[in-house]
Amino acid sequence: MTDPVKLEDEAHDIMKRKQEGIDIPLNRNVQAKTTSTFLEYVKLVHNAIPELNLSDIDTTSIFLGRRFSAPLIIDSMTGGTAKALLINGRLAELAESYSLPMGVGSQRAGLVSEKLADSYTIARKKAPNAFLIANIGGAQLSSGLSIDKVKKLIEMINADALVVHLNPLQELVQPEGEPRYSGVLKCIADLVKVIGVPVMAKEVGAGISREAALKLNEVGVSAINVAGAGGTSWAGVEKVRAESASERLKTRLGELFWDWGIPTALSIIVVRRALMKLPLIASGGIRNGLEIAKCIAIGADMCAMAYPFLVNAVQSKECLYQFADTVIAELKSTMFLVGAGDMKTLKSTKYILTGELRSEVNEY
Ligand SMILES: Cc1cc2nc3c(=O)[nH]c(=O)nc-3n(C[C@H](O)[C@H](O)[C@H](O)COP(=O)(O)O)c2cc1C
Repeated sequence: MTDPVKLEDEAHDIMKRKQEGIDIPLNRNVQAKTTSTFLEYVKLVHNAIPELNLSDIDTTSIFLGRRFSAPLIIDSMTGGTAKALLINGRLAELAESYSLPMGVGSQRAGLVSEKLADSYTIARKKAPNAFLIANIGGAQLSSGLSIDKVKKLIEMINADALVVHLNPLQELVQPEGEPRYSGVLKCIADLVKVIGVPVMAKEVGAGISREAALKLNEVGVSAINVAGAGGTSWAGVEKVRAESASERLKTRLGELFWDWGIPTALSIIVVRRALMKLPLIASGGIRNGLEIAKCIAIGADMCAMAYPFLVNAVQSKECLYQFADTVIAELKSTMFLVGAGDMKTLKSTKYILTGELRSEVNEY
């Protein structure tokens, strides 16, 4: 039997880490410094004769057999603290009323203590009909987390899908990180066979390469979220934490690899070229509806945002809803300007690649 004192200590440590995982992105600048998403190198072609009315534009999106009001996912973020309870509650209300999919943060905390599980279960309470995505780390799987435990975290929120986050860079820099990834593909393959809901894979800000995508596809994942470089840097978040813990080497690694990874636009294009049919989510630094339109045009089926939803969710419910309205209005405006009345047309809209994106895309 597990020692209850040890469990309490573990729950306390996880809670502290989760709290910092929200506070640091909110209070320190841990966005990409020297890289970008490369979306500025994607140009959509203006259409002076759109032959449609703005009011006719339909952003309905089908993903994994479900219908959503827009190609926008509230990306996996948090859980395990009182503040996370508030944030997940607000995000879930938005997911429910706008019919958007939502991910919760890594649920390891919820397995350690029932007290901490509330901050995840709130999502299902506030969003009884929404498409909710459970979350666990690849490093936890390869460190031996059992299939039964993974089933528990799916049950915790009655999830419609599970996403495995692949975060080797974060594990490397995190003071208490577990940079153990040996055998992770086999763990994902085993999950896919028995878990009973679609299993997706995501990065957390360093992108997915062509080779990684091919391997994930081979083991049967239902979708990939590229979570490329150009947005929130988890090397950055962990660098700040390592600095406070006076961990010299980890601080240095965090600084050195702050902007490591494959920019979001590049990752989408190379993965889409390799896998024509796999459902693909673009994320990592997406900040407005124009960028969403660009991601869809270059091959994504859906887009996800994390940091912008966090910033607005902590302000108020009104801010959060206003933000979602703005992003959807920006997306519709872009669709109007390229003459795309629906997602199918937006997917085949003309685009031009320029600059570094154009020169690097054939190298990958
Ligand atoms: C506060 C915060 C917490 C996060 N926690 C998780 C997590 O627990 N699991 C996960 O898969 N990704 C997590 N992420 C990563 C995001 O899902 C996303 O991949 C990444 O932040 C890039 O998107 P962004 O640039 O829009 O923030 C977190 C992001 C933020 C901002």
